[in-house]
Amino acid sequence: MSGNLPPYLRLGVNIDHVATIRNARGGEHPDPVRAAELAAAAGADGITAHLREDRRHIRDADIARLKDLVGLPLNLEMAATPEMLDIALRHRPHACCIVPERREEVTTEGGLDAAGLHNHLKPIVDRLRDAGIRVSLFINADTRQLEAAVSLGAPVVELHTGAYCDAAFARENAKRDAELARLANAAKEGAALGLEVHAGHGLTFDTVAPVAAMPELAELNIGHFLIGEAIFIGLEGSIRRMRAAMDEARGGATEGRAERA
Ligand code: PXP
Repeated sequence: MSGNLPPYLRLGVNIDHVATIRNARGGEHPDPVRAAELAAAAGADGITAHLREDRRHIRDADIARLKDLVGLPLNLEMAATPEMLDIALRHRPHACCIVPERREEVTTEGGLDAAGLHNHLKPIVDRLRDAGIRVSLFINADTRQLEAAVSLGAPVVELHTGAYCDAAFARENAKRDAELARLANAAKEGAALGLEVHAGHGLTFDTVAPVAAMPELAELNIGHFLIGEAIFIGLEGSIRRMRAAMDEARGGATEGRAERA
């Protein structure tokens, strides 16, 4: 690290909603792999995709294509189920992020209860880690959940930024600031516990800066807004603008850009 700049903040681009549009007509267009290639050209450091139980986003066949055809590490989001564990072990993506999943939800509405589900999660985390896959847990910004990640042996946590983004969107400023403070504390606490800390969910051009400025964060994962904004300014434009907003919030830190772990 040079001077007092925080380390480079990686951007994982979630391409789920390219698949959502494709699936609306059941065909092959638009292809999430093509979106991932564009994301790589626009400065993404990784590709994220969620294989849901109901396959509303990517499909099974997309995983191998994303892994083999795109020159970026793949972060597979998955529920902690035997089916998803099998799929992850078969494909061995660079990383797996374990998320809670309820069939009827519109999106991943809250963090994983890593503390309450310890005994269920332990063998899954162990098997993924033993296969050389970087495991992260998508949790709320909460000390109990951070400690659970440590006791489960997960090296990475991703903090759910949805409550902060919802409050910002609703202009509930006191709540927004309280959620930001919670995220900042959890980022510090997680780093002090030896965890690599990521964040994501609901981030936009308007909400990304204060999160990107948290020096302990190593990676943001952003999807829905980038794909939506692509309708207006193109996918490369939307990713480049997000990348620039992150770099600016980070004080221009670019050291470690090539480190894609
Ligand atoms: N991180 C995780 C773990 C997620 O589940 C999601 C949504 O799939 C995101 C980040 C991205 O959220 P959004 O699509 O709202 O940017």
